[in-house]
Amino acid sequence: MQGELKIISGTANKSLAIEVAKNLKIKLTPVDIHKFSDGEIYVRILESVRGSDVYIVQPTSPDANLNLMELLITIDALKRSSPQRITAVIPYFGYARQDKKIVAREPITAKLVAKMIESAGVHRVMTFELHVPQVQGFFDIPSDNLDLIPIYAEHILNKKLKDLVFVAPDVGGAARARHLARVLHAPIAIVDKRRPKPGIAKVENVIGDVKNKTVIIIDDIIDTAGTITEAVSILKKHGAKDIYVLATHPVLSGPAIKRLQKSPIKEILVTNTIEIPKKKMIKKIKVISIAPLLSETIKRQHEGTPMGVVYDKLYEKVKKRTHRKPPNVVRKTGGFQA
Ligand code: R5P
Repeated sequence: MQGELKIISGTANKSLAIEVAKNLKIKLTPVDIHKFSDGEIYVRILESVRGSDVYIVQPTSPDANLNLMELLITIDALKRSSPQRITAVIPYFGYARQDKKIVAREPITAKLVAKMIESAGVHRVMTFELHVPQVQGFFDIPSDNLDLIPIYAEHILNKKLKDLVFVAPDVGGAARARHLARVLHAPIAIVDKRRPKPGIAKVENVIGDVKNKTVIIIDDIIDTAGTITEAVSILKKHGAKDIYVLATHPVLSGPAIKRLQKSPIKEILVTNTIEIPKKKMIKKIKVISIAPLLSETIKRQHEGTPMGVVYDKLYEKVKKRTHRKPPNVVRKTGGFQA
């Protein structure tokens, strides 16, 4: 057991931090965060955290750089206030897509960001659905990358959909689609997407059968929505019936909302790892809260009890509803088996 449990919220997603603190029956630790007129950020923790077990909730959602900088400065303010342990809860870890060098003279920014967070002085990191689970390896401190698959499975079961097929909108997302499909005993298909330039998605083919099927496209991020809407077009051309989208992080930048609005998608399920501004909340977007799972994870982390039993229960619940043997490839946390 660590010192007193404290939750601090950055400005990126305060409503999530409030929900978590409420579940844990504590108040958010007050903090003063403001910007000087030149854009520099100032952070001061407004009560003692000496000897405490502190969790800072701050996704690096848009504006990514501003929110990242605020996270770093908050960690520094904390480090100088003598807590026993600092955990950065980064529900959306931006820059995770820059995880490798593809052409000459490129950076590996996901690694740089991990190093910056670590150097600022955190002891531990919590993330949700990293773009690829191996980004965890960029941290040399313990990290938990939480899996939302059993929660998604419950939501899909509630919809009582027939003739389902799970679709990965690109080859990189195949493991994620296969994982959910195995839990719900459904087939998968893969869209063959290419990126001629960063931010531009082009699709050429569909691998698998989607004709007259109810399709659920699963992805980690909807950023400009190019990937999803291009996938929807080609899936429709291949005879898909109703199309649903499931994506963890609603970045929703640039033309995303216009594209999603125009696209023949029945429903878009996202989570609150990123808070969606009111003006972007169109009717077909439904938000699932990660707060219950995050609160339980923080509680167990604080008490030093394992998380595996929570996942066992979640998967057991899904298994009872599907009346089938659970797949033997299910992982507790940290990503999917390919
Ligand atoms: C790509 O590999 C990711 O998994 C997402 O599909 C992608 O980043 C989404 O970006 P956009 O919405 O801009 O196409």
